[in-house]
Amino acid sequence: MKYQIKFVDLTSLPPADRILSERESAFYQTLKLPKRRTEWLGGRFALKQLLLPEPGADLTRVQVLPQEGGKPQVLLDGAPYTGAFSITHSHGWAAAAISRECRFLGIDLEKVEHRINAWAEDFFHPQERLQTDDAFLTALWTKKEAVVKLLGTGLSLNSFDVRFVGDKISFYGEALKVYHAMGEPDIRLEVAPKPQGFMLCVAYAQ
Ligand SMILES: CC(C)(COP(=O)(O)OP(=O)(O)OC[C@H]1O[C@@H](n2cnc3c(N)ncnc32)[C@H](O)[C@@H]1OP(=O)(O)O)[C@@H](O)C(=O)NCCC(=O)NCCS
Repeated sequence: MKYQIKFVDLTSLPPADRILSERESAFYQTLKLPKRRTEWLGGRFALKQLLLPEPGADLTRVQVLPQEGGKPQVLLDGAPYTGAFSITHSHGWAAAAISRECRFLGIDLEKVEHRINAWAEDFFHPQERLQTDDAFLTALWTKKEAVVKLLGTGLSLNSFDVRFVGDKISFYGEALKVYHAMGEPDIRLEVAPKPQGFMLCVAYAQ
């Protein structure tokens, strides 16, 4: 299996003290917005269950600690986790993915819904806007976010610099520099309409 994914329903999370270590709890307490708190907790719950799948495992053995730049650091029993991982959350769901086979991984989950034209014009290069329907644009959004997570940059990049035309990904500007520095891995994308009403993209490279 190239990667494993775990979805978590954010309406049925266990108490935070069953999920978080002391260090994580200290950060969690600083989060003010209830939505952000629930998503932050849910993403960690999903990732920790993938790393410790045994029933009743002590999830506090895994720590998913925030880092500058956005991509968290993962510690398992205090040592850095060396596999690839990624977290996403959207509208009541969180999901995480891990892989021991792939060196690079990024996932993104988005609800399929109508968005104004200005949004698509801001984020997608004219070459990418081959269709205008909600499912196409949402899938394009998930592909872009999954790839910028795989690159480790997030959208600190210009979103036009990671470009999808058909099945081909092209990199420009800062994104191209990062991609070169990674050794130009062969990035594969899988996009699926799941859960119902959402679009999930997994970007991975060995
Ligand atoms: C990474 C990024 C793309 C996150 O996107 P998002 O849709 O806001 O959030 P998601 O729920 O999908 O993902 C958030 C998770 O991504 C991970 N993440 C954040 N920065 C990351 C980075 N630089 N590299 C890899 N992963 C990163 C974190 O685990 C984060 O969850 P956490 O804070 O709970 O740990 C962010 O850089 C960003 O810029 N968001 C802006 C969204 C936007 O305007 N999109 C326009 C449409 S193309």
